[in-house]
Amino acid sequence: MCGIFGCVLTQGNAAPLIHESLKRLEYRGYDSVGITTLENGVLFTKKDQGKIDDVHRILNLDDMPGSIGIGHTRWATHGAPLKVNAHPHVDCGKTIAVVHNGIIENFSELKQELVNRGHVFASKTDTEVVAHLIEQNLKDSPSTGLAEAVREATKRLDGSYAIAVVSSNEPDKIICARNESPLVLGVGENAIYCASDIPAFLPLTNRAVFIKNGELIVLSRSGYEIRKIHDNSVVTREPEVIEWSPEAAVKQGYPHFMVKEIHEQPGTLRNTLRLQDDYLDLISTFLDRATEVFLVACGTSYHACLAASYMFSKLAYLPTYPVYASEFVEQHGKSVNIDSTILAVSQSGETADTLAAVTASQLRAATILGLTNAIGSTLTRVSRVYIGQQSGPEIGVAATKTFTSQLSVMAQLALRLAKKRGKVSQDEMDFIEEKLSKLPSTVETIINTQESKMKQIAHKYKDAKVFFFLGRGVSTATAYEGRLKLMEIAYVPSIAFPAGESKHGPISLIEAGFPVVFVCPKDGSHRTLIGNIMEMKARGASIISVVEEDDEEIKSLSDDYVCVPCGIPEILSPIPFVVPLQMLAYFMALERGYNPDMPRNLAKSVTVK
Ligand code: F6R
Repeated sequence: MCGIFGCVLTQGNAAPLIHESLKRLEYRGYDSVGITTLENGVLFTKKDQGKIDDVHRILNLDDMPGSIGIGHTRWATHGAPLKVNAHPHVDCGKTIAVVHNGIIENFSELKQELVNRGHVFASKTDTEVVAHLIEQNLKDSPSTGLAEAVREATKRLDGSYAIAVVSSNEPDKIICARNESPLVLGVGENAIYCASDIPAFLPLTNRAVFIKNGELIVLSRSGYEIRKIHDNSVVTREPEVIEWSPEAAVKQGYPHFMVKEIHEQPGTLRNTLRLQDDYLDLISTFLDRATEVFLVACGTSYHACLAASYMFSKLAYLPTYPVYASEFVEQHGKSVNIDSTILAVSQSGETADTLAAVTASQLRAATILGLTNAIGSTLTRVSRVYIGQQSGPEIGVAATKTFTSQLSVMAQLALRLAKKRGKVSQDEMDFIEEKLSKLPSTVETIINTQESKMKQIAHKYKDAKVFFFLGRGVSTATAYEGRLKLMEIAYVPSIAFPAGESKHGPISLIEAGFPVVFVCPKDGSHRTLIGNIMEMKARGASIISVVEEDDEEIKSLSDDYVCVPCGIPEILSPIPFVVPLQMLAYFMALERGYNPDMPRNLAKSVTVK
């Protein structure tokens, strides 16, 4: 997730305005920044790695000529957060500059094709191919205008993008285009803006035009023209008036970051399906060769590791050991050796306990693999290979979208490993891959259809003194995560166990009305889980279940239930099944009068041991 911005002013300097607008987009990414302006047919570019204020202090981003320009604030996806990878990116002739938010899936093929035609690339980004593609189109058809060259270029792109392009050969316009990544125009009195998000221009104008997938826009001093990319037909769309305050706009109208991030999950899951094959392959190769594999993490990331241990075992027949990072050195420090492989999982890539486990393992010559949401973080620097999960910044302290993305990446690794080891039939593989590709829309359905139900359930149980969360198999991880969310933001003391363990002690707590949440995918342990529900019910517990929508049996045993679509393969089930539990925690926090974005005593990234 990056932020793009562009403006065409009838008078005045664009650079200070772009700089200010990028600051309002910094919540979308902040590892590098860059601006290109245009004056008298010349492009001026300033860019560097680092936060906007730091880069501005050194480069003075306001001191650039011209009343047209584009800017970018980056959340690295392809290529480390270095100056060379900062946007805008230019073509060989340095006449075209491009900013981009999204992921170009086929950039490796396009890059190879362009290199074969003599193009020289400066960065490791996927974005740079766009500048060279446009350049090539203009070379191939010299009479083509910039807009047409951009249109032709976008037809070659697979993946997601919102781009803004300027050229010194047509210095009076910006061309933008969108597929999946957000893009919105701001229509001012004497200016027109394009941006990833409304907050970028909200202090300047509240008149916005939302751009749809497959549209290309020409911004000029006479206004904006929208066309469809596929047939170049003109689209007429008037601006809408936005009533949001600047604060609400940053949250896109949601009251809290947490609920915004819960709602972002269809998009962030889609991003995980666009990860670079090479890295997934490499990590699964390391796992395949490993003698022993430790999955090391804290908190929510640990729950992703716990779920992953079931995925690796069930799909690829690889035993792995999920370990709390804070316990790792005590528990396994002495036994780690050159044959050990550590897959460290940390959305921030900076959690002290996780890094300490990694450092201790490195000293014993273990192989370190990483999964993180922060490219450029310490974890990416100490890992032999890492995967960036591409969820964009998570601002709510409680991890939500980063958790489901970690699960999706782990499932993909398990699938690759299973393929390598020949452990799963092609039919089963195809089935799981198909369901994985549909998960973004499955999660979207859950959010759209179950949110109000979860709100009602939270209202009903708002005064409960304690909650129980139970699941079997991989759903144990889902239950643990549901408990952690509820405890950390709604301050409800909660307990979670594998359902089978509950009768070995915890069941003694149960008395009339005690809320017990069951995670109930229709997997191999469904029948046994029903037995566990009966045990709790017989002792007066109030049963709240997350069930598949055709699961009439568990519905009939439940006091309350929420549904997820049917037919999710067992190993993928934590992804959809955790979403209602995230919503439960969110609404419970609201019911109990707490701000879910700022739970007491907690920090987003825990950098002390
Ligand atoms: C819970 C939560 C924490 C983190 C934990 C690890 O909602 O966010 O439990 O999961 O502090 O953080 P990372 O993944 O950054 O290492």
